[in-house]
Amino acid sequence: MEVEKSNNHKDNKIPGHLGIIMDGNGRWAKAKGKIRIAGHKEGAKTVDKIVTACRIKGVRALTLYAFSSQNWERPTLEVTALMELLKEYLKNQRNKILDNNIKLNAIGEIERLPLKTKNELKRLINDSKNNDGMILTLALSYGGREEIIDASKKIAEKIKNNDLKIEDINVEIFTNETWSKDLGEVDLIIRTSGEVRLSNFMLWSSPYCELYFTKKMWPDFDEHDLDEAFKEFSSRKRKYGKIE
Ligand code: FPP
Repeated sequence: MEVEKSNNHKDNKIPGHLGIIMDGNGRWAKAKGKIRIAGHKEGAKTVDKIVTACRIKGVRALTLYAFSSQNWERPTLEVTALMELLKEYLKNQRNKILDNNIKLNAIGEIERLPLKTKNELKRLINDSKNNDGMILTLALSYGGREEIIDASKKIAEKIKNNDLKIEDINVEIFTNETWSKDLGEVDLIIRTSGEVRLSNFMLWSSPYCELYFTKKMWPDFDEHDLDEAFKEFSSRKRKYGKIE
């Protein structure tokens, strides 16, 4: 199914750049008497549903917090299962992503991922690089602070090599050194599961981002919940520090 490009995000009815903190897989599984990994598996199905819905609605960029820099500290079994799940997702969704003109992207310390997951990821990033229907970014081994530190190191390196003067550093120049440089600022962040915090997600790119929290666990989140979030987003007055 090839869907048309939409300009819905241009009148601020829906966010141009949507970020999602997909939280609550573990609690969803526990409530059903299942192991945590079952929650992540169900969460992967929600990823498929929400990616499709965002593509149809005309979201320009969708960034999913799939694995944080801090998630490496979870039990090895869970980390391994998540990496395996990600590899399977990339294999299973490959044709759908390509057919729907979605450009796959990743931010984070991708080199830390296991080889097979990394290869599958890089293959699809490469094969979808000319797509322009929607940019789907997976934040993997990602941390907002880690992103800012990485950009700072690149800036320092440029200064050391006399390629940049300290007084010339500004928001644009700094942004150009971040992993998220091509994505634009985030317009809306949705977090599921009732937790009300950012947990190190997109810290540099979210200065005037709207925030939306829902108690739904990620495996239960669906297209109608996305509509609710977009309805709320379209009613917000965004002032960017100015007055109306
Ligand atoms: C947070 O829930 C979720 C994660 C750390 C992993 C997110 C992974 C997926 C949604 C599935 C795989 C991803 C893709 C892109 C196919 P949690 O485990 O912290 O839940 P809890 O707070 O209830 O324990």
